[in-house]
Amino acid sequence: MEPRRGRVLTGFRPTGDLHIGHWAGNVGNAVRLQDEGYECFYFVANWHMLTTHYDRTAELGSLVEGIVLDLLACGIDPERSTLYLQSDLPEVAEMALLLGMIAPLGWLERVPTYKERLRDMAERDVANFGLLGYPVLQTVDISIVRGELVPVGEDQVSHLEISREIVRRFNRLFGEILVEPQPLLSDFPLVPGSDGRKMSKSLDNAIGLVDDPDTIRAKVRSFITDPQKVRLGDPGRPEICPIYALHTRFSPDIVDWTRDHCRSGELGCVDCKTNLADRLIEELRPIRERRLELASEPGLVWKVLGEGRERVGPVVRETMDAVRDAMGFSRP
Ligand code: TRP
Repeated sequence: MEPRRGRVLTGFRPTGDLHIGHWAGNVGNAVRLQDEGYECFYFVANWHMLTTHYDRTAELGSLVEGIVLDLLACGIDPERSTLYLQSDLPEVAEMALLLGMIAPLGWLERVPTYKERLRDMAERDVANFGLLGYPVLQTVDISIVRGELVPVGEDQVSHLEISREIVRRFNRLFGEILVEPQPLLSDFPLVPGSDGRKMSKSLDNAIGLVDDPDTIRAKVRSFITDPQKVRLGDPGRPEICPIYALHTRFSPDIVDWTRDHCRSGELGCVDCKTNLADRLIEELRPIRERRLELASEPGLVWKVLGEGRERVGPVVRETMDAVRDAMGFSRP
């Protein structure tokens, strides 16, 4: 008999359109695991979005629709993967209250993403209980569906570490009920943006997954390259060039050639960028076309999320019953 494949779970915050960094990282991984036959649960973390965007709730509905269309266009197949919305599951909120009782403040205050958010969003008032509790809610997302493998970006490893500690603490106190999850990192964790920093929508350095070909070309042209390579003939240093980093992921067949001809100076940055843009446009074309097609089907997103809720509901209720029972909340 084939060994049982683990249960995969991951969440996506609906922060706006996906970019090629997501595609090379978490989203690509989620599609691959589905295609390899794992049992996959994927959800939109719209409550998590409130930890920093509680004053932008009016946008949330359309952000949810946007990310679901993006995920479907990327190849998440709602027949094979269960795709649902966090806020459709009140049990998640109930269990977050319970796990919050055993999550030490010290663990939560030490999380790097918490400190970063407080620092980076200093102009907005995000120093709230909800933001501190972010990893508790994330732990519930995972453990309430008994997720074992969690494809995430590197920035999420500290959250997963806390999840494992909270699960261990729960099991020690109340019995072996919850499963310790494992993070699954992408082979290609660091996708640089046009300024060489990590690609991110908020840094305005990203190539969108559904950008049209002209936009892709213009954005690729705007990328920094090795500052010492000024004109054709100057030898370049691919290892410090963000365009080269993208070649390693998006044009594997010419990546060695690109490296050698950049180093020797024979390949200029303009041509090198054109090669990359050509590949990107080809790879993203089907995603973009599918996204346009899907967006023209009215009601599709909410239908998919409704079906996802039906499928995940029994799993979630079973865990919640076990947790209530273990903590002494079931009625006689
Ligand atoms: N924190 C994740 C992110 O920012 C999103 C998320 C929420 C998540 N809950 C999760 C990821 C559970 C994995 C598992 O990308």
